[in-house]
This record gives sequence, C-alpha cells and structure tokens, in this order.
Amino acid sequence: MLIHLNTFFLLLCLPSLTLSYDERPRTGHSRFWRRASQKVAAEGFANPKESGGSFLTQVENTTPPGQSEPVNMIISANSDADVLKDQEDGGGLRNYWLSLLFAGECLGQHSGDSQKVDLGDGHGALNETAVIRYNYNDSQLGTCKESIEGGNHFRYWVQNGPTMNTGAIFMAASYEMPISQQHGIVANGYNLGRDYIVGNITGSVIPTANLTNQSSYSGETSFGGFKYRTTVKYLSGLLQNTSIGINHNDSVPTGDMNAIDGLVALLEVKISERPKNDATALFLNPPRRAWQIPVLFVAFIISLACF
Ligand SMILES: *[C@@H]1O[C@H](CO)[C@@H](O)[C@H](O)[C@H]1NC(C)=O
Ligand SMILES: *[C@@H]1O[C@H](CO)[C@@H](O)[C@H](O)[C@H]1NC(C)=O
Ligand SMILES: *[C@@H]1O[C@H](CO)[C@@H](O)[C@H](O)[C@H]1NC(C)=O
Ligand SMILES: *[C@@H]1O[C@H](CO)[C@@H](O)[C@H](O)[C@H]1NC(C)=O
Ligand SMILES: *[C@@H]1O[C@H](CO)[C@@H](O)[C@H](O)[C@H]1NC(C)=O
Ligand SMILES: *[C@@H]1O[C@H](CO)[C@@H](O)[C@H](O)[C@H]1NC(C)=O
Ligand SMILES: *[C@@H]1O[C@H](CO)[C@@H](O)[C@H](O)[C@H]1NC(C)=O
Repeated sequence: MLIHLNTFFLLLCLPSLTLSYDERPRTGHSRFWRRASQKVAAEGFANPKESGGSFLTQVENTTPPGQSEPVNMIISANSDADVLKDQEDGGGLRNYWLSLLFAGECLGQHSGDSQKVDLGDGHGALNETAVIRYNYNDSQLGTCKESIEGGNHFRYWVQNGPTMNTGAIFMAASYEMPISQQHGIVANGYNLGRDYIVGNITGSVIPTANLTNQSSYSGETSFGGFKYRTTVKYLSGLLQNTSIGINHNDSVPTGDMNAIDGLVALLEVKISERPKNDATALFLNPPRRAWQIPVLFVAFIISLACF
C-alpha cells in the first residue's frame, strides 16, 4: 500500500518537477499552444498583409479622401506575457509605456476621430484601442500638455482576433502639431514619432535618416519599480517607402525623406527587475503553478490518512 502511494505521489509530482526546470514557466505553455495553432512568425507577430490586413490605417475626413497613417511599431508577442497585458498593475503594458513617459489621454478624454486598421486577425478593421500621449515626464497632467501643445503620440491595436491571436501590440506613432494648428503632423513626423520613442528607450538620439533594415538598438527603462529591457529591430517590407497616400503628405515629406521611410520598429520587451514587494503582481497574476497547490493538498491529506 505504502509503495503504491509513493508511486502515486511521484506521479503527482512529475508535472511540478518538469515545470520547475522550464525557464519561463509562466509563458511557455500558452505560448506553445498559440504558436502551434496560429503559426506566429519567429518575430512574434503575424503579418496582417498575409491575411487580408494592412499596415495602413483608415482615417476619416482626409484631404484628399482615403489617406492613411502608418502602423510603424510593434511590441512583439515574444515579449514577457506580463508586458502584453493591457493594464498598469503587475508591470503591464500601461506601466511599460509610463517607463517611456507615455500615458493615456488627458483626464480620460478622447480627442479627435478614431482610426481603423485591419490586423488580419479576423476582427476586420477596428477602431484604435486608445490614443497614448507623451507626458513630458509629468504623469498627472503631462498628456494634457501634449493634447494642447502637440508632441509625440500613438494609437494602438492588439492582434487578438479569432483567427490570429498572437497578442502582439501594433502602434501608429506620429509627432503632432499644437491644437491651434488642428493637430497636423510635423515635418517627418511619422518617422520621427517612431524614432523618438526608440530614443526614449535607448536614451540616445536615433539617426532617422540613416536607418536601414539592419538597424537595431536596445535600452533599459523603468517605472513603478519595474525595469524593462527592450531590444529594437527595424524591419522593411511591411510598409512602403513612400509619400503617396499618406495623411498630411503636403507637409510631412522633407527634402531627403518620404513621409514614411517604410521601416517598422519591432520591440521585444522583457521585465528585468520587479519591485521587491510586488504584492499586486502576485495578487493579480497568481503564479501558473498555483493549480498544483490543491493537487498537492489532496495528496497531503491522502498521506495523512495513510500514516
Ligand atoms: C469608431 O470611431 C468612430 C469615430 O471616431 C465612431 O463614430 C464609431 O462609433 C466607432 N466605432 C465603434 C465600434 O466604436
Ligand atoms: C523624470 O523625472 C524624474 C523625477 O521626477 C527623474 O528622476 C527622471 O530622470 C526623469 N526622466 C527623464 C527621462 O527625464
Ligand atoms: C524622447 O521623446 C521626446 C518626445 O517625443 C523627444 O522630444 C525626445 O527627443 C526623445 N528622446 C530621444 C533621445 O530621442
Ligand atoms: C548619416 O550618415 C551620413 C553619411 O554616412 C553622415 O554624414 C551623417 O552624420 C549621418 N547622420 C546621422 C544623424 O547620424
Ligand atoms: C527610401 O527611399 C529613398 C529614396 O526615395 C532612399 O534614399 C532611402 O534610402 C530609402 N529608405 C529606406 C529606409 O529604404
Ligand atoms: C533589407 O532591404 C534590402 C533592400 O533595401 C533587401 O534587399 C533586403 O532583403 C532586406 N533585408 C531584410 C532582412 O529584410
Ligand atoms: C499624396 O498622396 C496622394 C494620393 O492620395 C498623391 O496623389 C499625392 O501625389 C501625394 N503627395 C505627395 C507629395 O507625394
């Protein structure tokens, strides 16, 4: 009887033994299933263009009608799972953006028309999830300043549709003019908006005019006790290097650059440090292994009954 129970025990413990040797127990499992079913590219997103989507947004009321803005940044699905959660707690996406000095809109308001994009994930063209603005390092009212004085901002969408659920975050960044100028886009404002964010990650100026599909960067940022390590790779072939059909293309192109240079910055974000007492994280994101607690508890009761 005892021997049998021990074997039973050992079998019960096997899953926890294998899990504890998994380097990334919290993400590995679900990621595996995601990969297997959704064929996520090694880069950590699925190319919308391969399933009827686009890297160009649909904008209302443009002159001429039908102009688009570029989706020029992606947060890879290979980032830490906590970073891909759209929340501030537990080191989530909103906290990551705060580490780059970006936050939700001024006093929760939403100014301007929404833009739509089809990420090829089965959702069709959807309005942006939200607009996120540079907060001038003032997490209270900084985004109000951006709304009025202009500056950097981005819209974002999550690739989480029924046919392609990678969890990657797609961002359309641009540097806008003050509200007094109807929030046009400054000269080179799509490329610069993207590269200022990368510059905020690395802490050094990104040479926009000299970027190629070989350019890569990395940097560390922090907020709320979380430290993030971001690696950035510029990809070509997803957007065209062009001014044609791009919103505000009367003012955005410069002598040596098209309105969009055709590069998309792909960000992979890892949490490199967590607050010492990350109670919220533990509370909101119970460790994956928590399911084993009841199992082990039952095993414990059985063993008590036995001895
Ligand atoms: C999308 O945004 C437009 C304008 O910004 C709005 O009129 C429309 O109701 C929104 N659609 C949805 C489904 O929220
Ligand atoms: C933002 O402000 C804090 C102080 O409030 C300062 O420690 C930090 O260096 C500033 N960050 C940047 C990027 O300027
Ligand atoms: C950080 O972002 C701000 C606002 O977009 C920009 O003015 C600044 O140049 C950026 N820093 C770097 C090093 O790119
Ligand atoms: C871009 O490259 C050119 C030629 O190699 C160089 O003169 C220029 O300083 C570079 N610009 C930046 C912003 O690094
Ligand atoms: C974009 O095209 C221009 C010529 O129109 C070229 O000078 C530039 O190198 C191209 N940029 C990239 C990133 O391919
Ligand atoms: C980089 O761009 C060149 C054309 O400018 C292209 O031939 C090459 O395939 C691209 N490489 C990658 C890795 O996308
Ligand atoms: C802007 O895009 C339109 C197409 O919508 C095109 O006709 C026009 O030539 C473009 N302007 C520039 C400066 O490329």
